[in-house]
Amino acid sequence: MSNTASSSTSSGTAAVPPLSHTTLAEFSSDTVGAIWNELLVLSGQPGVCNLGQGFPDYAGSRVAREAAAAAMTKPAMSELNQYTLPSGLGSLKSAICAYYNKCYGLQEGASRKRAISPENVVVTVGATEGLFVTLHALAGPGDEVIMFNPGFPWYLNTTRIVGATPVLVELHGPDFAPDMEEVEKAITPKTRVLILNSPHNPCGHCYTKKEMEGFARLALKYNLFVISDEVYENVTFGGVKHLRIADEEGMFERTVTVCSASKLFSLTGWRIGWALSTPELLEGLSVYHGNTSYCAPSPLQHGLSVALEAEDGLFEDIPKLVEGNALLLGDALREKGFAITQPQGGHFLVADTTPLGLKGLECAKLLLTQAKVGVVPGIIFYFDDPKNSNGGAGGKEGADNDRPLLRFAICKRRDTMEEAVRRIRAMVLPAKN
Ligand SMILES: Cc1ncc(COP(=O)(O)O)c(C=O)c1O
Repeated sequence: MSNTASSSTSSGTAAVPPLSHTTLAEFSSDTVGAIWNELLVLSGQPGVCNLGQGFPDYAGSRVAREAAAAAMTKPAMSELNQYTLPSGLGSLKSAICAYYNKCYGLQEGASRKRAISPENVVVTVGATEGLFVTLHALAGPGDEVIMFNPGFPWYLNTTRIVGATPVLVELHGPDFAPDMEEVEKAITPKTRVLILNSPHNPCGHCYTKKEMEGFARLALKYNLFVISDEVYENVTFGGVKHLRIADEEGMFERTVTVCSASKLFSLTGWRIGWALSTPELLEGLSVYHGNTSYCAPSPLQHGLSVALEAEDGLFEDIPKLVEGNALLLGDALREKGFAITQPQGGHFLVADTTPLGLKGLECAKLLLTQAKVGVVPGIIFYFDDPKNSNGGAGGKEGADNDRPLLRFAICKRRDTMEEAVRRIRAMVLPAKN
């Protein structure tokens, strides 16, 4: 990115000044953005079975869409097309509380599994904004933020944008479970925040009770905040139950839980999520929320409040579909020689390309060109160690960090998944040398 404008142009007028230092630093460290954008365009071409970006190709909640449409078109509901309070539409905040209190058995006045009320909710523009404003509120220059590697790339980029230092803890296959000793070793006097994500993107690990207790012990011992990204909370497989770190003893007060209607209702384009925490922590993140988006779209908030009350499609259909897709795809990839981590939850399945003698990016390109199946290579989710590099997700030299991992989105219709599997089975992979 060149934005070092000279002082004047050939016509003698003053040149446009360069972008800010912070922005230019982001450009120079964001090296996977180009790979991501290229793969998105290629995966979206006609005829490609797109298991790349994690958006559903089935329709999102019908109840939500109909209620939002009514709010937009019915004269009697016209006020739902104006601003809501920055913290969100009252009916949505109430519906969110009712949902969590019921779904997780939260009780008023309890020391753990404490019930939430509307003062514990801020509706955000997707979990992405929720993460952004929460990191702004909790960390800044001089602070360290611990996150897992691989992980959702926004953790690293947002940490950098707020001026804090990302500290990476490696997850190891095949199960990609966190190692508490490694987490504890990463903690320093500068550590302020621990970012958790369960079910995990991309690896599909769901934290166990023992792991939750381990995180809680560390957060309390070292006085850390926790940002818990639980956007895939309703999609767990094989009887695994989603656990919330905020429900551990002493954790409610130091946790911001980030959630999303993108995933809960398969409405990624609506850009609605919510942050759950104490009024004190929410007041902190509201400083940033109020000055960025101000509030999430009102008619869509209304649609979600109606769908949450109706529990439309949350609990059974989608998790069953996604779990079935994971089994179908996992079998096909195993037959082709990939090493598979069967996910415990979430919208993704990861495959190790090592047995095939291929790197991730190389293999993603083969799948795209030979089988016309779009996937995302591991390079997108692996961060370089900031101590050894400029800290950008994926690393400066890109391909140097090309880990042997592929991520397949499995939040797709059954027929999409069957077609992808048929193509993968028919594909001829190069002989391992
Ligand atoms: C782990 C994780 N967190 C947050 C998000 C962002 O969600 P939203 O669409 O609500 O911004 C995603 C989106 O894919 C995700 O995978």
